[in-house]
Amino acid sequence: MILAQITDLHVRPHGMAAMRACETNMLTERGLRAVRAFRPKVGAVMITGDLAANGLDSEYRELAAMLRRTIDVPVYVIPGNHDRREGIKTELRHLPGVGDDAEFVHYSVDDLPVRLVMLDTLVPAAPHGELCARRLGWLDATLAAAPHKPTIIGMHHPPFLCGIRHMDGIILRDSDAFIAVIAKHRQVQRILCGHHHRAITAPVAHAIASIAPSVAHQVELDLFSDNPGLWNLEPAAFQLHVWLEQPGIIVSHTAYVEQYPGPYPFFADPV
Ligand SMILES: [Fe+2]
Repeated sequence: MILAQITDLHVRPHGMAAMRACETNMLTERGLRAVRAFRPKVGAVMITGDLAANGLDSEYRELAAMLRRTIDVPVYVIPGNHDRREGIKTELRHLPGVGDDAEFVHYSVDDLPVRLVMLDTLVPAAPHGELCARRLGWLDATLAAAPHKPTIIGMHHPPFLCGIRHMDGIILRDSDAFIAVIAKHRQVQRILCGHHHRAITAPVAHAIASIAPSVAHQVELDLFSDNPGLWNLEPAAFQLHVWLEQPGIIVSHTAYVEQYPGPYPFFADPV
């Protein structure tokens, strides 16, 4: 099974750019088309938050239309800090799991070779994330229900620091409590996040946690400085998480949306 992860789309109302200069709708549609064109065909698509730029119903309607004309496999979404649960539950209610819980957008996907547990780390109108006691309890009980099935967690806010300080200030605030829950459940192999608009990997308990690049704009790689955050248009990308039945592991590849020179054949150069 190949699971495509795209993240941080920041979709705007039809015809509008994000931050006055970033054509996130065009970039998102190009990303979705690249996912659709990939062979072998992906089995499912996970979108790890910041679906919309401002949580507007019109932004979710625009995304719904884009998904309808590009993706013909199941799409699993969760909210990011730019999202609004009500908008997702209204305009994207046709997507699996979105309506499973009356309050949060969290659910599990049990009909794939790898189980997906999709978390809602949103704190309304705040940039940081949090899993309150109810959501942590739901996570613990959901993981306890299938202790032997390899599992991927999907969540927007990463539960680890990375050195980009303006982003480190807005990660998952109760990450210690989250990590304590994960440590109890050995079947969790991977924790897939968004939020930072860069490819980043770190250990979390016994699992590998990672952040995927955005299909739209990226965040400047600015380590250990106190400069304000900046964005750029480094290559848009998505990730492909591949379940290898033997030896029972998930390997991850980064794929670029745009085309680059090549491919060329390998030749031995004259010595
Ligand atoms: Fe984002």
